[in-house]
Amino acid sequence: MSTEVVGKPIDRVDGRLKVTGAAHYSAEFPLENLVHAVLIGSNISRGTIKSIDASAAEKLPGVIAIITHLNAPKLKEMPLIMTGGAAAEVRLPLVDGNIYHNGQYIGLVVADTLERATYAASLVCVAYQEQPFVTEMEREKAVMPTGPVGFRPADIARGNLEQGLAEAEVRIEETYTTPTENHNPIETHATTAVWSGDKLTVYDATQFTFGQQKTLAIGFGIPEENVRIVCHFIGGAFGCKGGMWSHVPLTALAARFVERPVKLVLTRQQMFTNVGHRAETEQQIILGAKRDGRLTAIAHKGISHSCEDAVGEFVEPFTVATHLLYATQNLQTSQRVVKVNKGQPTFMRAPGEAPGTFALESAMDELAYKLNLDPIELRLRNYAEINPDTNLPWSSKSLKECYQLGAEKFGWSQRNPTPRSMQDGRYLIGMGMATATYPVYRFPASAVAKIMLDGSVVVQSSTHEMGTGTATVMAQVIADVLGVSVERVRFELGDTNFPKAPVSGGSGTVASVGSAVAGATKAARAKVLDIARADKRSPLYNIPDTEIAFEDGQIFVKSDKAKRESYADILKRQNLNLVEANFDIQFDEENKKHSMHSFGAQFVEVRVDQDLGEVRVRRFVGAFGTGRVLNLKTARSQMIGGITMGLGMALFEETVTDHKFGRIINSNLGEYHVPVNADVPAIEAYFVEEEDPHVNAIGAKGIGEIGITGVAAAVANAVYHATGKRIRDLPITPDKLL
Ligand code: MOS
Repeated sequence: MSTEVVGKPIDRVDGRLKVTGAAHYSAEFPLENLVHAVLIGSNISRGTIKSIDASAAEKLPGVIAIITHLNAPKLKEMPLIMTGGAAAEVRLPLVDGNIYHNGQYIGLVVADTLERATYAASLVCVAYQEQPFVTEMEREKAVMPTGPVGFRPADIARGNLEQGLAEAEVRIEETYTTPTENHNPIETHATTAVWSGDKLTVYDATQFTFGQQKTLAIGFGIPEENVRIVCHFIGGAFGCKGGMWSHVPLTALAARFVERPVKLVLTRQQMFTNVGHRAETEQQIILGAKRDGRLTAIAHKGISHSCEDAVGEFVEPFTVATHLLYATQNLQTSQRVVKVNKGQPTFMRAPGEAPGTFALESAMDELAYKLNLDPIELRLRNYAEINPDTNLPWSSKSLKECYQLGAEKFGWSQRNPTPRSMQDGRYLIGMGMATATYPVYRFPASAVAKIMLDGSVVVQSSTHEMGTGTATVMAQVIADVLGVSVERVRFELGDTNFPKAPVSGGSGTVASVGSAVAGATKAARAKVLDIARADKRSPLYNIPDTEIAFEDGQIFVKSDKAKRESYADILKRQNLNLVEANFDIQFDEENKKHSMHSFGAQFVEVRVDQDLGEVRVRRFVGAFGTGRVLNLKTARSQMIGGITMGLGMALFEETVTDHKFGRIINSNLGEYHVPVNADVPAIEAYFVEEEDPHVNAIGAKGIGEIGITGVAAAVANAVYHATGKRIRDLPITPDKLL
């Protein structure tokens, strides 16, 4: 039996810290002299500030400073996350009195307590010169994006769409819409900033410590090494903590202004306006197919909203998955963007794939009905054996196995495909499925491994623990490399004093950092081994590599297991306190020989109340091929979390703007509905065995985002099966079914 701990569903190494409150989140670092900042948001949606009267606020006891564009020190231009920095918006905070969206920060109050700062902020009176604004996404105003869509051009074509459509015997042409959604992690953004001379330390809830270090250094005009970012735990992120939003430099700016440590925590309301959201989309899909189901053409085009150029631009790349999901020769995708007076949209769990697969996988279901084909069979007839976009072979692909396993676990064969044919009392029952997909992203990463005198091991890399289990799976990787128990391993993250790690985005942490961690640990192990092999007193003296193995904290000789020595003994004899090694990983050209993606299949059963239009999810089964699973428990949790978020997207989530005032009217968790326990049935998540020798040394593809993809389509398809009504507009609320 394998003694490997990788793959085992071990408990989280930080579970106890988290449930006992011993884990310090970014707002929980007790610092001496700490004061509190509260942000003031604009009440108008476009215009300029005429005047600010802070006199009443200034007089309040405990108020230390009121900072607005009138007195704020100027920051230097900071690089954006897509161009090597971390800034999410181009606009510098408090740079002038211009207002581009409702809730935009126009100032902040610093006081000795949070309550006093909050009250003082409410007394700051602002007079505005209002200008016309627009918050509705009007198709006529759509323009070419200024930058790429995802990483690619806004318009992409292969083959000949017109010809493909002319060859088609059956055609689907429909429009699908998805609303604005907000990430809503439980931990709101929180920043604590402390200056010591011209050295800055920032405790921040971030998915990108090193990006923030670099960006803040540029913004404040100080050397990078003068900035330290600390982030040990994150209470969820889903993309909104990937880029650096303006409250971060503002907190640092305030701390310098008042010469004291400053803590700033966004309110739930502010979480809706200034830290990104998933943009609304309007997507048109055209599918052309032969009677046998073979796709002759796919067109996918549409619009999403972004903010005014002065704030920045983000284009929700909803066409990205369409390029590669099915083996069609003729394809065209095109995206345009409508600039509105809203805060900047950003990455949100599976940006692109989440709304994009809603459209494409709904359209595939519509096609299946039109052809009288089983929806799985239709997908199999268009199975992409290689990436049809790049013509590269897949590094691995187990989608067929996912369809098969998912269908079997779900009991797909019991489905009568006729709409409204399955009932349970007054409920209509529907079963739907969809394909899930997400790319494998790998970024350069570094780690240091230290084998300690007591035989324990410490490995460090400034990656992030978003609640996904990063620290746990890293500990498992390290334990296996050395042949020690997980209890002997400490993996430290979230501190720019540690080696560099990339943004924890694009589901790339394990694939990237995991490779660096494995590499550093192997390098440290090799150093200890070399010390022993060079030492005549060691039982490992002169033993060749091929004869060496590792277990129980010891190095031993395979052919003579009595010959063994612990790491601790080897270090002790040499009077070494520790042996350490660094490792940097780059993902080289060789890997461009393969197209790297994860795939999965989502199956759902809903029941629809005929009288009330209420949809409830009864069962959900997802099956995924994501390379090597490092920890079955944390991996399943990622899928259950992603699917749950997908159920929110399908049935509940929608950020509503009052277009008369340009203000979000449900910026709270009471009215922005996320799924709660009563909405979520038992979700089953399975992984098919998938070996991928190409993605990286540990064979793991990354699992943070694929879980949400395809879910909304699977639910919409199930709702159609139940009711005969095709809902192409998310979320599927009762009013749309009545
Ligand atoms: Mo993820 S939306 O790339 O943080």
